[in-house]
Amino acid sequence: MAAKVIAVVNQKGGSGKTTLAMLLAGSLGDAGHRVMVADADPQNTSLRWASAGDAFPADVEDVSGEEGKLHKELRRRLEEYDYIVIDSPPAATAPVTESALKLAHLALVPVIPSPLDLWASEMIREAIFRAQEKNPTLQARLVMNQLQPNTLISREVIGLLPDFGIPLLSATLRQRTVYKECATEGHSIEGLGSRAQMAAKEVDFLKRRVLALLRRIDNT
Ligand SMILES: Nc1ncnc2c1ncn2[C@@H]1O[C@H](COP(=O)(O)OP(=O)(O)OP(=O)(O)O)[C@@H](O)[C@H]1O
Ligand SMILES: [Mg+2]
Repeated sequence: MAAKVIAVVNQKGGSGKTTLAMLLAGSLGDAGHRVMVADADPQNTSLRWASAGDAFPADVEDVSGEEGKLHKELRRRLEEYDYIVIDSPPAATAPVTESALKLAHLALVPVIPSPLDLWASEMIREAIFRAQEKNPTLQARLVMNQLQPNTLISREVIGLLPDFGIPLLSATLRQRTVYKECATEGHSIEGLGSRAQMAAKEVDFLKRRVLALLRRIDNT
């Protein structure tokens, strides 16, 4: 079956696009799926993450040069993979981001629980709505990242989310040092072994929520 495509997007720099893309891709790869990370950001952070070790369980390729032709290039590769995860640059209206949203089945928008970050995400919301006019099966979810549970600010920002216009994924990523360690060591979260058990459970749950959303497409 042709790959399902997940685009991780946000205008806001540093919101966790690369972290989310690589944790999700690593978890899918560890589960035995054929996974490609299409690194569409010229900073090539995903590529550096994978290159930091030799055991990352997904293919990571620099596709940043494809710009507005990315969807055409990836469409040719759909049969090679079960999942293609696109890590995009912090630019909602960049041709490569628009191109990613043309092909994607699911757009994930990581947001840090701060009002400033949520406001800065409004441009990507508009880009997703524009893309949905031509790609009506495109689903979108906000993903709360760097969550520090039980803080007042987290609760306040979560209170703003129902008005944002894109639903919140019912799985979050907490702020955890082990996620940075995955990047410096070139691993998936499973690859860190027993020192990352809680984080591995969190990422596994996130993967399951994402897979449940993607199954909806097969049923429509
Ligand atoms: N859940 C988390 N826990 C701890 N650190 C995190 C988490 N998510 C992201 N970070 C850290 O925050 C920084 C920014 O994350 P990341 O590079 O994933 O964001 P980005 O949106 O891809 O940034 P850019 O827009 O520059 O591509 C990195 O140092 C990363 O290690
Ligand atoms: Mg990045």
